[in-house]
Amino acid sequence: MILLILVLSYLIGSVPFALIIGKWKYGIDIREHGSGNLGGTNTFRILGKKAGFIVTISDILKGTLAASLPWLLNTDLHILLAGIPAVIGHCYPIFAKFKGGKAVATSAGILLFYAPVMFLLLVAVFFIVLYLTKYVSLSSLVACTAAVIYGVIIRDILLIIVMAAFLIFLLYRHRSNIGRIIAKTEPKIKWL
Ligand code: G3P
Repeated sequence: MILLILVLSYLIGSVPFALIIGKWKYGIDIREHGSGNLGGTNTFRILGKKAGFIVTISDILKGTLAASLPWLLNTDLHILLAGIPAVIGHCYPIFAKFKGGKAVATSAGILLFYAPVMFLLLVAVFFIVLYLTKYVSLSSLVACTAAVIYGVIIRDILLIIVMAAFLIFLLYRHRSNIGRIIAKTEPKIKWL
């Protein structure tokens, strides 16, 4: 049953909402535009607020659904562990030639199910940094760092380990964004 959950989690994470909505509703493959990333930020950038909002929420809910699988299937697997394959699926989706997003929304969705209060705090951190800097990538990295700190404060060892691993992975996935921030060429959002 645990193997089934891990496979299901990966398949759920692999659903490329940015690609599906872009192609289906707008006839646009967002992999060929903007950053080329199959995520909410690039969808906002290329297709506008409505599509960006729908993709971001859908990507968050992928993580939430994957994290809830142990509960739905009545299996003794930790929520955070059940969610990890969904994040891998989101970044390396089997349904989109293994080129997906950058892990942010789907990992947030796992936290929404695991600790809703922490999720809300992280959303607040994200928007404060976004308001101050206008960089989505930097805001995502700071929010993930805040999740590690939150884990330390509440002494949740598994949360610390998983979020620290996510942070390293996020830094890797955002390496081009970090380069652009340093070079001051990273696009800033205009709507906040
Ligand atoms: O979560 C993705 C975001 O942080 C950066 O996306 O499209 O600007 O590379 P993008």
